[in-house]
Amino acid sequence: MVAEVLAGLKVRPSGRYADGTIGGGGHAAAMLAASSPDGWLFGCDRDGVAVEAARERLAPFAGRFELRQGNFADLLEMAGPGGFDGVLLDLGVSSPQLDSAERGFSFQQDGPLDMRMDTRQDLSAADLVNRLSVDELTKLFRELGDEPQARRFARAIEQERRRELFRTTAQLAGLIERLAPRHGRKTHPATRVFQALRIAVNDELSSLDRGLAGALKILKPGGRLAVITFHSLEDRRVKEFGRARARDYTFPGEVDVPELRQPRTPELKWVQRKAITPGAAELEINPRSRSAQLRIMEKA
Ligand SMILES: C[S@@+](CC[C@H](N)C(=O)[O-])C[C@H]1O[C@@H](n2cnc3c(N)ncnc32)[C@H](O)[C@@H]1O
Repeated sequence: MVAEVLAGLKVRPSGRYADGTIGGGGHAAAMLAASSPDGWLFGCDRDGVAVEAARERLAPFAGRFELRQGNFADLLEMAGPGGFDGVLLDLGVSSPQLDSAERGFSFQQDGPLDMRMDTRQDLSAADLVNRLSVDELTKLFRELGDEPQARRFARAIEQERRRELFRTTAQLAGLIERLAPRHGRKTHPATRVFQALRIAVNDELSSLDRGLAGALKILKPGGRLAVITFHSLEDRRVKEFGRARARDYTFPGEVDVPELRQPRTPELKWVQRKAITPGAAELEINPRSRSAQLRIMEKA
C-alpha cells in the first residue's frame, strides 16, 4: 500500500519522516523519492539483516537518511521529540524473514524454532515451547493466537517434550498437523500457534503500545502517523490508541463515567479511521498483504 501511505502521510519535499519498520526499505525508498530533493528519513528495524538490506536499497538517497537497528518502542529515544512530519509503522514480519528457513518464522519450511526478530535477544520460540507450563501455553495460544484447541495442543506439546525437546519448526508444525489434520483446509493448522509464539517471543503488543505513544511524541503538530496492521490484536490496539487520544476529555480510572470527565484538548484526530485495505491489483502481486489494514491519524 505504498501509494496510500505516501498520500496518507502527505509526503512532500523537505519533509522529515520516520519509518519504524524499515524492512527491505520499500516504503522508505518511496518516501525518499516523494520527498526529493531534500526530504530526510530516520529508519529502524529490530532485525539487523533488514537494516543492512534497507541500507543497500536506499544507497541512491545517500546523505538523506539515517538507519539504526532498534525497536520502534524506543522511537522517541532514538529519533528525538517533535521534529517529524510523518511516521510509518508497517507491523509484523517481512517476506525475507518468512522465507528464510533459518529464522524459524515459517511452518512451511524446516528450520530452528527461533522467531527472534532481533537475534541479539536470548529468548526464542523453542524456549517458550520447552519451558512454559500447560496452563501458560494454553493462555498464550488462546490470547495471542485465538486458537480454539489451545489446551489440547498445549497438553500434547508437554507430553511430546518429555520424550524429546522441541528444536525445529517442522517438529512443532508436524505435531499440530497430526492433532488437527488439514482435511483440505487452506490454512495450515499451526498458523495460530506460530502467530502466538512469534508475538510472545518479540513482545509485539507492548512494543506496539510504546511505539504508538513514541510516534505521537516525535511528530510535529499536524504531522501524520500511518499504521499497517496484519491481525485483529494489533488493529484493536491501534484503534483504541486513536480513540483514546482523539477524545476531548479524560476520565479517572478504567471506566468512562460522564460525570467525572475532565475536558482537555485532543492529542490527535483521525484522518482515516476506517481501515484502507489492499486493492485487487496489490493482492495479485502480493497475496501476503490480504489481511493488511492501514489507518492514519494526525497530531493535533
Ligand atoms: C512488514 S515488514 C516491513 C516492510 C517495509 N515496510 C518495506 O517496505 O520493506 C515488518 C518489519 O518490521 C520489523 N519490526 C516488527 N516489529 C518491530 C519493532 N517493534 N521495532 C522495529 N522493527 C520491527 C520486522 O523486523 C520487519 O522487518
